[in-house]
Amino acid sequence: MKETKFNKAKVVIVGGAGFVGSNLTKMILNNNPEASVVVIDNLMSAEKENLPVNERLTFLQGSITEDRILEQLKDDIDYIFHIATYHGNQSSIHDPLADHANNTYTTLRLMDWVKNFKNLKKLVYSSAGCSVAEKTFDEAKATTEQEFTNIKHDSPYSISKIIGEFYSVYYYNQHKLPTVRARFQNVYGPGEVLGAGQWRGTAATIWRNVTPTFVYKAIKGIDLPLENEGVASRDFIFVDDICRGLIACALNGTPGDVYNIASGKDITIAEWANLIVEIAGSTSTVELLPKRAWDNSGKRYGSTEKSEKEIGFKAEVDYRTGLEKTIKWTKENLARIESTMKKHEQHVKIEA
Ligand SMILES: NC(=O)c1ccc[n+]([C@@H]2O[C@H](COP(=O)([O-])OP(=O)(O)OC[C@H]3O[C@@H](n4cnc5c(N)ncnc54)[C@H](O)[C@@H]3O)[C@@H](O)[C@H]2O)c1
Repeated sequence: MKETKFNKAKVVIVGGAGFVGSNLTKMILNNNPEASVVVIDNLMSAEKENLPVNERLTFLQGSITEDRILEQLKDDIDYIFHIATYHGNQSSIHDPLADHANNTYTTLRLMDWVKNFKNLKKLVYSSAGCSVAEKTFDEAKATTEQEFTNIKHDSPYSISKIIGEFYSVYYYNQHKLPTVRARFQNVYGPGEVLGAGQWRGTAATIWRNVTPTFVYKAIKGIDLPLENEGVASRDFIFVDDICRGLIACALNGTPGDVYNIASGKDITIAEWANLIVEIAGSTSTVELLPKRAWDNSGKRYGSTEKSEKEIGFKAEVDYRTGLEKTIKWTKENLARIESTMKKHEQHVKIEA
């Protein structure tokens, strides 16, 4: 029988105000009436309003690399989720040093600070399936939890994510820090606010990822841009499933080990775009664009065999249901999303 509850645990979520982190915070607080959560976030790519108001939630605003923040972490924590990142590939290409400060260095400082904690049951590190996936535009094969990686990466972000895995394994082997690596596929769902956080040098600050971009544009009747002519494919996973996967890693994962948190199937970007247009009842058409110079990622999806067998995780939300929920949430929160996008209007003019 696999564990699903935290009971009276004290949980720390680094990067907990972000898209995945805020959904995880809510899920843990809602499903565990005796658990408490501490969120640490510098709001680099998040808005404080993402977090719920709850007396069992403490918010520490700042970077996990700062002494004044780390000094507040004592050896009474049961679980840590390290979800912080410098979002995302394009921002990291624009400013590799900012990526280092908010991605690689965050992982190192956090793990080094807690390495001798005795009460800590698990530290879950959010890694990225894209960092280890084979780069192919041929038929996708399921990416398993192999322990090797290509040395060629498309972005500093991808390098940072894999360095985080190296540190997870190092601190487990050297200090018995109970790290578990969760390798995500592409997450989508309610709570991903376009333009959240600070300007990070490119329009990707606003558009973030393919799904919230397509959903927003479909709702507004704006044409959907298909990079690489939409032939690439991705394994999309609904945010509630990712959160359940992270929780399964914390409660049931073996220290030192790694698990894919994936839906286990891929869909081409063109099919994804057409499904969004259909569900949104949109007048948008799709616009075929050439390959992005930096992007060689091609087709991919994650194998779910190990996580299903060892931590009892299986994605539950199918693509249509997940997109229906995402589109509904986006429509209901359009005013808030547009005011967040507007923060960056001196840098990028948004079509509306
Ligand atoms: N969303 C996806 O499709 C996806 C795919 C693969 C992996 N991941 C990983 O999942 C995690 C969450 O991603 P997300 O989509 O929620 O991104 P996000 O940008 O919404 O969340 C990241 C959070 O980290 C915070 N942060 C940045 N620097 C920090 C610092 N120095 N100290 C404290 N907090 C800091 C940001 O403000 C933000 O709240 C990331 O680690 C990401 O690499 C996400």
